[in-house]
Amino acid sequence: MTAPLTIADLKALARRRVPKMFFDYADSGSWTEGTYRANEDDFAAIKLRQRVLVDMTDRSLKSEMIGQPVSMPVALAPTGLTGMQHADGEMLAAKAAEEFGVPFTLSTMSICSIEDIASVTSKPFWFQLYVMRDRAFIENLIDRAKRAGCAALVVTADLQILGQRHKDLRNGLSAPPKFTPKHIWQMATRPQWCLGMARTKRHGFGNIVGHAKNVSDLSSLSSWTAEQFDPRLSWKDVEWIKERWNGKLIIKGILDEEDARAAADTGADAIIVSNHGGRQLDGAPSSISMLPKIVEAVGDRIEVHLDSGIRSGQDVLKAVALGAKGTYIGRPFLYGLGAMGKEGVELALNIIRKEMDVTMALCGKRDITTVDRSIIAHCPY
Ligand code: FNR
Repeated sequence: MTAPLTIADLKALARRRVPKMFFDYADSGSWTEGTYRANEDDFAAIKLRQRVLVDMTDRSLKSEMIGQPVSMPVALAPTGLTGMQHADGEMLAAKAAEEFGVPFTLSTMSICSIEDIASVTSKPFWFQLYVMRDRAFIENLIDRAKRAGCAALVVTADLQILGQRHKDLRNGLSAPPKFTPKHIWQMATRPQWCLGMARTKRHGFGNIVGHAKNVSDLSSLSSWTAEQFDPRLSWKDVEWIKERWNGKLIIKGILDEEDARAAADTGADAIIVSNHGGRQLDGAPSSISMLPKIVEAVGDRIEVHLDSGIRSGQDVLKAVALGAKGTYIGRPFLYGLGAMGKEGVELALNIIRKEMDVTMALCGKRDITTVDRSIIAHCPY
């Protein structure tokens, strides 16, 4: 195989290198995976306006997300169990993002802890919070994120109940993973993955072990995690979090104009239009198809970001054209990480940057901050 040229190439390589249960964990969507597919398909339905004979020199992709300078408007989305795609995965991805000049968001459900990431980065990263029933635990997490100097708190609002991914159940994936002889065989046939894991010192959920009440070993951790997602979570909790955090706040998982208005009312700095990468409500619309309505509803009150379905720099450009000030990639960087470690995350970011740059030029624009709906030839949304 030649060097990966696209995110699809990185995906194919990751499929070969990462044990099936972890590749599937990253790759899958909930139930029929209809929303997961729509996320990608709906980007493809948007057509760009080709322009010619305009000056294309000195192009810039530099922008800002929540007032933070970014080398391009793309952040790494929070993803759980990232350290199972590649040893020390969260630390490698955080370093790659820092060197590239884009934000890295650490998930509550990461393998490496907040402190692990702080020990390998010199610039502030972002921290994603799942609001658990155990509020003392949440307070502790918020305080740790503050101590680590995190520059933004991303509160995920769309996971009060877990959407079922059939592949994970069929593969016997639990949190944390319990390995059967079949899994061990699958891992043994992935030598690169095994060698990496043999070197890593980090196992289990770095942000949770040792901090949650009554959690002392892996099996108590597993049941604690399962019962901790909070079905009572409400906008009042977001207000409480905002007060305690007292810093930049982003609300993730907004897919409806009414919810977007409620999010803007909280005074948060940004929302992420997201359906969790098609992993929660199967049957929900794609993120990109909801973006224009949400921008119309709240774009003058709050910064609007988007994730779910971005697989190329063209997709980022389309999201920006429809009003997103920033975007996030989940699977594209996970595929890169699983395929080639830190180098693969860098490659994923480089692929996206190059595609975005060339597409912007061919649409007759030189500066990402001037990209707007005028570059769209056809958009069904
Ligand atoms: C996620 N996502 C996610 N979101 C979150 O807020 N906290 C989390 O721990 C996770 N975990 C997670 C694991 C994996 C394997 C994936 C693929 C996704 C959702 C993530 O932040 C983001 O919304 C989607 O990944 C965006 O869609 P794409 O880019 O993967 O299509």
